[in-house]
Amino acid sequence: MKIGIEKIGFYTPHIYVDMEKLAEARGVEPAKFTIGIGQSQMAVAPITQDSVTLAANAALSIIDDEDREKIDFVIFGSESGIDHSKSGAVYVHRLVGLNPHARAVEVKQACYGATAGIQMAKGHVALNPESKVLVLGSDIARYGLDTPGESTQGAGAVAMIISANPRIMELESHNVYLTNDIMDFWRPIYSDKAFVDGKFSNEQYILFFNKVWEVYKEKSGLELSDMEAICYHLPYTKMGLKALRTVLEEAPEVDRERLLENYQVSTLYNRNVGNIYTGSLYLSLLSLLENKDDLKEGARIGMFSYGSGAVGELFSGVLQPNFREHLNIEGHNKLFDTRKEVSIEEYEQIFNETLPEDGADIELDIDKDPAPIVLSGVVDNKRQYVNKRS
Ligand code: CAA
Repeated sequence: MKIGIEKIGFYTPHIYVDMEKLAEARGVEPAKFTIGIGQSQMAVAPITQDSVTLAANAALSIIDDEDREKIDFVIFGSESGIDHSKSGAVYVHRLVGLNPHARAVEVKQACYGATAGIQMAKGHVALNPESKVLVLGSDIARYGLDTPGESTQGAGAVAMIISANPRIMELESHNVYLTNDIMDFWRPIYSDKAFVDGKFSNEQYILFFNKVWEVYKEKSGLELSDMEAICYHLPYTKMGLKALRTVLEEAPEVDRERLLENYQVSTLYNRNVGNIYTGSLYLSLLSLLENKDDLKEGARIGMFSYGSGAVGELFSGVLQPNFREHLNIEGHNKLFDTRKEVSIEEYEQIFNETLPEDGADIELDIDKDPAPIVLSGVVDNKRQYVNKRS
């Protein structure tokens, strides 16, 4: 039985910051951000968007009534959870109107959560071939104003349906995973901003990639020339390139050129959104699928997932016949085209605007946010979500 990605969609907030202007404001050469880091624009989450609304908006863009009936498992991968107890999946389940006979859970392991979700979904579908699983990767990356990590912030979510009808990509089973208890990036329970050992995190990302790639080759018998492209978790677009370069020498020139060219295509969306943590690898896949016109069915795509702390996984998928017909290229172009730039002052103000932490109620102005699903406030310590379409 084939199991894999039947549908994939994404959502990012309606406002962004231009990275050259951010560099100027921080007294940094713009080329450091646009070339050295490899980011052009950074999505900014208004106070009316959190990890639940981002995920629900991404899910809303892909599901239809048949999915609403057949989805019996919702897996919410996030490291920006809004509650220590209740999962984001339960809110999304209601907001997009799913069948009540579904499981709904949240999975956490930094940026690896959605990958864990996909692998759990695969197992669930193997046991229940009629089922569909909704896997979400949703995050807001926050390091703080004028910090080294600031240029690698972002916000957004990817939603995928995993089923036995993988119209986009069949998932192969040569997965190789690795865990090591390290402190490269973490966010203590009391902090809304991440702590990071930047250089160490870069080194560990590459080390994890090298380790899983070596074992993947042994396990699968495959090599670089078997890959049409490798998509990476992209905390910033230069990061995956650094990892790819460490193995390129293994391949003949023609494969090197293809992998480098396809790498660039796989970073186009991420370059204009920033780091979306759990969804980042899947945004990169979407970028490749929607921007590379000559990708063919049967092409194998390598996927490298990395979640600080750290867990890494390398796996692969094979593109299915007519996969392009099941993408929403027009919808995603529109999402980008209708975004609005905010000034650095506006971004700083939005960044500092946070929900009350003393239990006070708050009502938010949802008219400024064009998203269908928004956070409208907090009442009695309960977040209030609104689906403007229902
Ligand atoms: N023109 C062109 N390039 C320039 C330049 C200029 N004028 N000035 C500097 N650069 C280049 C540098 O040479 C460097 O390139 P290389 O890494 O290829 O040498 C690049 O710009 C970045 O410069 P620095 O290393 O000096 O940047 P920094 O120390 O200020 O911060 C960072 C970079 C460590 C990535 C920081 O942004 C950070 O801590 N980010 C968050 C952590 C992170 O994203 N880690 C990635 C791995 S962990 C992970 O993947 C999980 C996750 O999602 C967080």
